[in-house]
Amino acid sequence: MTASDESTVALAFSGGLDTTVCVPLLEEEYGYDRVIGVTVDVGQPEAEFDEARRTAEALDLEHHVVDATEAFATLCYRAVKANATYQGYPLGTALARPVIAAAILEVAEEQGCAAVAHGCTGKGNDQLRFEAVWRGSDLDVIAPVRELGLTREWEMEYAAERDLPVEGGNEGVWSIDQNLWSRAVEGGELEEPSYIPPEEIYEWTAEPDGTTTVEVTFEAGRPVAVDGEELPPVELIEYLNEYAGQYGVGRTDVMEDRMLGLKVRENYEHPAASVLLAAHQALEDLVLTKEERRVKRGIEQEWAEKAYEGLVFAPVVRALEGFIDETQSVVSGSATVRLEGGTCRAVARDSEYAVYSEEMASFNTESVAGIEQADATGVAKYHGLQDRLANEVADRVRGRVPSISTDEE
Ligand code: ARG
Repeated sequence: MTASDESTVALAFSGGLDTTVCVPLLEEEYGYDRVIGVTVDVGQPEAEFDEARRTAEALDLEHHVVDATEAFATLCYRAVKANATYQGYPLGTALARPVIAAAILEVAEEQGCAAVAHGCTGKGNDQLRFEAVWRGSDLDVIAPVRELGLTREWEMEYAAERDLPVEGGNEGVWSIDQNLWSRAVEGGELEEPSYIPPEEIYEWTAEPDGTTTVEVTFEAGRPVAVDGEELPPVELIEYLNEYAGQYGVGRTDVMEDRMLGLKVRENYEHPAASVLLAAHQALEDLVLTKEERRVKRGIEQEWAEKAYEGLVFAPVVRALEGFIDETQSVVSGSATVRLEGGTCRAVARDSEYAVYSEEMASFNTESVAGIEQADATGVAKYHGLQDRLANEVADRVRGRVPSISTDEE
């Protein structure tokens, strides 16, 4: 490492107000000689890269763009296997952060940086998600917005004084975070939980209208084809976002409990995630045993919590995935979902691993696998036996006869 390397910092750069003011601040307040802006592609719209490039140029900032779309799609597919949602949200922003953080760290290490920096505030989740990855390295971690206690107003004034290229700090009414897996919209009047979101906040989903079906094929829990057409992960997700979005599928409006305890009202669009999660779950319902399904619900919840926290690299996540992957070997086949009225629900599933015997479930067969109808009599005698006994005891001890009654006590 040369002396000048000691004073280089890699900044997670989007070209927005926060990260733009960070550039001069890192030089002036933190004393770095060289700032490198890194923008990581996790499927943001092209316009965001244009903005980042333009702003970097105007700032005379060395700018790197890293394509992490495939790594991100791979993580999204792990989320599908885990049927993962957090409070109804398929975790798009949460899953993207560790991928972005890791990509920035790689650039920082290549470029011999002494530090990495982000423009997150001290209120949100993203500061924690980025730093959970970065603090595993030897580099210093810098969070100018949080550390200097900056407000948007201050940033806008500072940008105006310095003539920074922030397009007047004019980033619209809504705060938007968009990637391959979801589009999150917050801020403005949406901060008021009683405010009904206007149609204009939606970009990926049309007003629900019309109906169609989509068939998704899975191999060992991974989506591999849509309506019979094989597609690699990034293309498959993009295709479904577009297709299911036309039917208004994949809108959620949640009161989200953030990691620091704040409740924040957040709106999301995620057509592909909705379809893939519904289809995957439907296929699992056919091929997993009752016990596998029951235990997996708990595992999934744990996976989603860690993913929300940006901790997908944690050992416990690998352990949870040990269970998940063990179950996925039979999650091959297809499921069809109907898109209708902005919802998607499974209407068909098919797999050679179905834990299902039409012959056994049918009302029309007398004896199957040596089991007669009459064999259920013994089971019926035992069923609820312990409860009947316990109620008898309670009746004797407390003089109270529990009964099924419509009267409220
Ligand atoms: N609250 C979400 C999360 O922490 C997403 C935040 C997205 N940001 C935005 N500006 N809408 O995962």
